[in-house]
Amino acid sequence: MYSTILTEAKNGLLKIIINRPEKLNALNEVVLAELKIIVESLKQDASIKGAIITGAGEKSFVAGADIGGFLQVDKNQGASLAAHGQSIFSMIENSGKPIMAAVNGFALGGGCELAMACHFRYASAQAKFGQPEINLGIIPGYGGTQRLTRLIGKGRAMEWMMRGDMVDAQEAYRIGLINKVIAHDQLMEEAEATMQLIITKPQPALEALIKATNAAEDGTKEGYETEAQSFGRAFASENMREGVTAFMEKRKPNFK
Ligand code: COA
Repeated sequence: MYSTILTEAKNGLLKIIINRPEKLNALNEVVLAELKIIVESLKQDASIKGAIITGAGEKSFVAGADIGGFLQVDKNQGASLAAHGQSIFSMIENSGKPIMAAVNGFALGGGCELAMACHFRYASAQAKFGQPEINLGIIPGYGGTQRLTRLIGKGRAMEWMMRGDMVDAQEAYRIGLINKVIAHDQLMEEAEATMQLIITKPQPALEALIKATNAAEDGTKEGYETEAQSFGRAFASENMREGVTAFMEKRKPNFK
């Protein structure tokens, strides 16, 4: 039904599988558009009580926004792209029905941001997390500067985003980014068991607790706007052109 996302509904639970394994499930425009439709329809569909987001294939959850189109993006388009991604991830965070991330591999950039927008996260022992945007001369744009800071604290988030490297699932667990590390081949089974338990709880109470828990985090609107504008400005930079070109040419960037 969708070209970049597989969906499977079973016993009131919807599995949302980002499905571009040849590009490590990178988020292009189509994935974002389809994800938006799916999250919107979750609200309407009374037969579905909750969802799990995961990635297709053995290697990756989501390896970020699709870098392929970045060289065509200017400053204003960059800011709009960030605002668009932020709005879809915010729909996930504010979904009245519980949505968890089952991180089966790389969760980098927009992939880490997608996992963080979910209500909570389990990960395969093979998963790797990171916000590597700095290596492309840009910054996280889909809420990463905001949600990472809230989840793991400002100092760790700063270091992580500045270093731009990856941490493994154990470290992500240790610092509180994820709730549980699970053997790779058990991940979906455990994720489903947890969600099957959660969706037996009274739906209005689940919705109320999601709303109240999200309300515990205030003052974020300005943070998201600052992130989107800064993301846009980075697209006007020579460093972004160099970082993206170097990624595509599979070489180290030479930043000014
Ligand atoms: N956007 C577009 N394409 C991506 C991508 C992304 N974010 N991440 C990976 N891909 C593509 C690669 O270009 C490659 O495509 P190709 O086979 O046509 O060359 C394919 O997915 C497989 O990736 P590859 O880099 O060959 O795998 P690897 O195992 O050597 O490395 C990663 C895996 C995740 C370390 C590496 O792909 C990577 O660094 N990706 C970018 C992560 C990133 O910067 N994300 C934030 C973007 S804002």
